[in-house]
Amino acid sequence: MTTNVFLPGLLRSLSRAELITKMRETTTGSRDRWPLSSVIILATTLVFIAFLVKLISKTKKRRSGRGGSGDGYKLPPGSTGWPLVGDTFAWFGAVASSHPPRFVEQQAKRYGKIFSCSLLGKQAVVSVDPAFNRFVMQNEGKLFQSSYPKSFRDLVGKNGVITAQGEQQRKLHGIASNMMRLEKLKCHFLEDIQLVMLRSICDFPDNQVIVLQDVCRKVAINLMVNQLLGMTGELDIDNMARHFSDFVDGCLSLPINLPGFAYHTAMKARNNIVSKINETIAKIRRLQGSAEVGNGVLGRLLGEESLPDEAIADFIINLIFAGNETTAKTMLFAIYFLTKCPRALKELREEQEGLRGHNAAEAEMLTWQDYKAMPFTQCVIDETLRLGGIAIWLMREAKVDVAYQDYVIPKGCFVVPFLSAVHLDEDLYPGALDFNPWRWLNPDNQEKRNWRNSPFYAPFGGGARFCPGAELARLQIALFLHYFVTNYRWTQLKEDRMTFFPSARLVNGFQVRLNRRSQL
Ligand code: HEM
Ligand SMILES: *[C@@H]1O[C@H](CO)[C@@H](O)[C@H](O)[C@H]1NC(C)=O
Ligand SMILES: *[C@@H]1O[C@H](CO)[C@@H](O)[C@H](O)[C@H]1NC(C)=O
Repeated sequence: MTTNVFLPGLLRSLSRAELITKMRETTTGSRDRWPLSSVIILATTLVFIAFLVKLISKTKKRRSGRGGSGDGYKLPPGSTGWPLVGDTFAWFGAVASSHPPRFVEQQAKRYGKIFSCSLLGKQAVVSVDPAFNRFVMQNEGKLFQSSYPKSFRDLVGKNGVITAQGEQQRKLHGIASNMMRLEKLKCHFLEDIQLVMLRSICDFPDNQVIVLQDVCRKVAINLMVNQLLGMTGELDIDNMARHFSDFVDGCLSLPINLPGFAYHTAMKARNNIVSKINETIAKIRRLQGSAEVGNGVLGRLLGEESLPDEAIADFIINLIFAGNETTAKTMLFAIYFLTKCPRALKELREEQEGLRGHNAAEAEMLTWQDYKAMPFTQCVIDETLRLGGIAIWLMREAKVDVAYQDYVIPKGCFVVPFLSAVHLDEDLYPGALDFNPWRWLNPDNQEKRNWRNSPFYAPFGGGARFCPGAELARLQIALFLHYFVTNYRWTQLKEDRMTFFPSARLVNGFQVRLNRRSQL
């Protein structure tokens, strides 16, 4: 999801900062769909007033006792209290730059790896400490829980895994993990992913200029609709993708449910999506047992699991939501990094073309064996996730007063494990800002590399909310890389850079001219 699923809590309640960035971008002439309309100005003003009111009431509360340090709670050190606005701007300024942890790194130098900070009037404990980050993830549901504003919960649906808590979250998470675990990929996803790739990225003519970001966006949503709903018709997929686009735009916007506002459009789009999913459920039930049901998660869900109908739509919407943008942007960033590192691109291409050699006689499709024979590609994916991991931080809230080391984090306090600060820590990763996929071949890094468990490398989170789509995402990205690098060479036409705010992306969308390899 834009700004993606992992920045929301805080961030989404902070859409004002987004508006500011948007406005800045518009005035500096970078392309964006948002016109600088009077609606935005009005909305910004409203939100800013709301923000000030909130700020003042928060400050009063803190003065009047509870929640501050000094009355039993010993919060980690940091700049609390005024000037709150300063922290917030520094924070989002850093996230909008190509180096999101800049601000937290500075704070960590001053106050230590676990520090307090005030973000738009709300107290937050921020951590760049691998052990504490892991502690927070491992105690999901016990000491901490993920936290989202109500408007966001209403949009993605209260029965989905992202916003569910406790028992219900564990059940839904279990189902999701089961549907997409490694052994299921071979029979249910391997071929379908490749069909989507063949259809969506393999037919560009020689010399075509593309905006790769838009292409990846299309690939990802096609993948999601195809794999989750089992839809294969191009028209069906495009239709669904359009509803989803409206939907996602709304999730990013101010929660004003009135005609003309993106949030309203999103709510309508949500209804369309739910009824489409309802139709698909009915159709699958009619076809029960016949081969036409296909490989979609939805079909298997109906057959294998017992979820009430009204929970199914939310479940699927949550998966699409969590998987779409993360996958799109990781594909994009991988190509971006490779373009800047020709030696890595060459090695990757050789590996991928080597696979072709093996089974040139067979169909064009890659096999599971092929997928298992891509060690360097796996390094490229890991390095892309380290440098350009979409989930730069996680959002949690303390469920109870939590004692950790000398500190007590009061119930209700925001807790932010800042993953990318760990991934970009020079002490853990020498040359941390360089794209160096070979680092993952180093035997010293093998333990670190274990992305399911490593405290030092957690691009898919951890604990009870560990990304259930991790293996699927990696397969999709590997197959994307295969089809892209074996079909094309490309020339970058415009300077570009990463930003992570308001969503992870390349500011100019990565325009490239493609040349078909067969023509060279
Ligand atoms: C490169 C791609 C991806 C990355 C980097 C990524 C990363 C993450 C991270 C860090 C979390 C944990 C969030 C938290 O703890 O608050 C997460 C959760 C989740 N991911 Fe992914 N993800 C990716 C792809 C996917 C895909 C393809 C799917 C599904 C089709 C998916 C489904 C989910 C779901 C459902 C959750 C929520 C789990 C829960 O809250 O219990 N993800 N992902
Ligand atoms: C998928 O992500 C793209 C951004 O990469 C966004 O524009 C689009 O609306 C998203 N669609 C869905 C269904 O999440
Ligand atoms: C979809 O089906 C569920 C469960 O049968 C029902 O509660 C819901 O109202 C339906 N929604 C739409 C939009 O058709």
